[in-house]
Amino acid sequence: MNVAHGVSSLVGSSCAIQELRCKISAAAAFDEPVLVIGETGVGKELVARALHAESARSSRPLQIINCAGVSSELLASEMFGHRSGAFTGAARSRQGRLRAADGSVVVLDEISETSERFQATLLRTIETGEIQPLGSDTVAHVDVRFVATTNHSMSELVSGDCFRRDLFYRLAGIIIEIAPLRDRLEDLPELTAYFLALLEQRYGRPRRLSEGALSLLEQQEYPGNVRELRQVLTRAYGSSEAVRISPSEVDAALFPAQPCSRTTVETGDLSLEGVVRRHLQRTLALADHNISQAARLLSIPRSTLQHYLTKYRIEAPAQRAKQRAAARS
Ligand SMILES: Nc1ncnc2c1ncn2[C@@H]1O[C@H](COP(=O)(O)OP(=O)(O)OP(=O)(O)O)[C@@H](O)[C@H]1O
Ligand SMILES: [Mg+2]
Repeated sequence: MNVAHGVSSLVGSSCAIQELRCKISAAAAFDEPVLVIGETGVGKELVARALHAESARSSRPLQIINCAGVSSELLASEMFGHRSGAFTGAARSRQGRLRAADGSVVVLDEISETSERFQATLLRTIETGEIQPLGSDTVAHVDVRFVATTNHSMSELVSGDCFRRDLFYRLAGIIIEIAPLRDRLEDLPELTAYFLALLEQRYGRPRRLSEGALSLLEQQEYPGNVRELRQVLTRAYGSSEAVRISPSEVDAALFPAQPCSRTTVETGDLSLEGVVRRHLQRTLALADHNISQAARLLSIPRSTLQHYLTKYRIEAPAQRAKQRAAARS
């Protein structure tokens, strides 16, 4: 077991992350195939690595095979190997990644992007451990554990439109679903501190988020999940002039809004109250929670802004910080 890269590599203390750690540890104790489901950038590869690190197979190196954007023939050759002359361009024999992964774990990244024929071969290998290199008559046996990842939702997977049902049911013995970042925003303080610490380790400049900058980050939807957050922070870090990263530096680092994203369609609140509330929160964050400055930005008197903040129950930062501290304890 390689605990350093295990479940402790997942940053966050939300219920979703705590449950995820438990699921990974439980799955690591078995030797069945696993299907890791989650939106892009949510941490599927990180989870697969943690699962390998916590398992009894961790002493052998993990193999990650990217199944997207590769032709079926190339993918089959990469996984199962080939004899020389098996196809045009196959000048030399090749062993294949499954042989190299014997005794370890193989991650099939974006399994849903593979062809139906490839999936049929894969199903057989999962069930029997048999592999047949392209152009060869000999069948060999490997002992690998498969972890497949997909960014399709559970309902899409169950409908059978994403990949073969028989393969889905074989993989679905253990399913690990990762919640999108927008559903566990309470992880933001820890995630942002973690990524800023990594940047400081690399570039030597210490940086912290101001209260307003964190609050601005808390108002985002993150269709690109943790990877998007990391990139936003990297840009804000690169452009920040003082130790405290300001709201306007975060604002400039944010990705442009994506009006047609799945997120907006599914969860966007387009009621007038929702829009006004978000606008007030965003302006307050931009003003680093200085109410007079926010009122100036909104071109309204301070008392009018105060009235709206009470009406829409928008909390002051000190109150929010207290709530967060209480949630952590
Ligand atoms: N809980 C977490 N703690 C720390 N880092 C995280 C966490 N979740 C994701 N990350 C980081 O976010 C980035 C994206 O994660 P990862 O590559 O595992 O996502 P993915 O779901 O495989 O994405 P894709 O669908 O695009 O392949 C990586 O830099 C990863 O280390
Ligand atoms: Mg990935």
